[in-house]
Amino acid sequence: MQFFIDTGDIKEITEASKWGIVDGVTTNPSLIASTGRKQEDVIKEIAQIIDGPISAEVIATDKENMLKEAQELVKIHENIVIKLPLTMDGIAACKFLTDNNIKTNVTLCFSSNQALLAAKAGATYISPFIGRLDDIGHDGMALIEEIRNVYDNYGYMTEILAASIRHPTHVRDASFLGADVATMPFKVLKSLYAHPLTENGLEKFLSDHQKANK
Ligand code: E4P
Repeated sequence: MQFFIDTGDIKEITEASKWGIVDGVTTNPSLIASTGRKQEDVIKEIAQIIDGPISAEVIATDKENMLKEAQELVKIHENIVIKLPLTMDGIAACKFLTDNNIKTNVTLCFSSNQALLAAKAGATYISPFIGRLDDIGHDGMALIEEIRNVYDNYGYMTEILAASIRHPTHVRDASFLGADVATMPFKVLKSLYAHPLTENGLEKFLSDHQKANK
């Protein structure tokens, strides 16, 4: 399973990159807005830190302008993946970019039929938003399972990028169900390391070692 970090915060990306387990980065207009910087500047800096796919989202809602934005975004770095909303124009833009060998991440996916549309358009990644479905009383993880089944039924190569991850259990369950990628906030990524038995066990090993070597 690949791990992407879902943030535009350069400090977080820099720290997480040192852990050696971050495969890529996802951003969205809200995450970029929270940095108070221009998307282009943030993405350029991220590309210097992480050598892997970096999703940058278009703001336009019509195909023509989505493609114009995509053209500019791909100039930033070879690792840029164009993030497009799951709309008719987004899917049409995805098909065009796929036909022109540009990687895409179709975002804001909330149903397996939507995921099927993205796969048919040749999307590199589909981003089902688990947390936002859970928030409204639906079962986000069931969507990951459905998409896995649909894609496996037809051999679609679009990678399932479990998004809107809120806690470590989301990561565990998405990995059980065969999501290809999990993108998560810094704090969730960090929390994957934590287990009280690891901490207590290490403390005991070290104190036993010290006692024996007095
Ligand atoms: C994914 O690419 C999105 O940026 C992200 O996971 C959305 O998460 P949220 O629902 O916590 O905003």
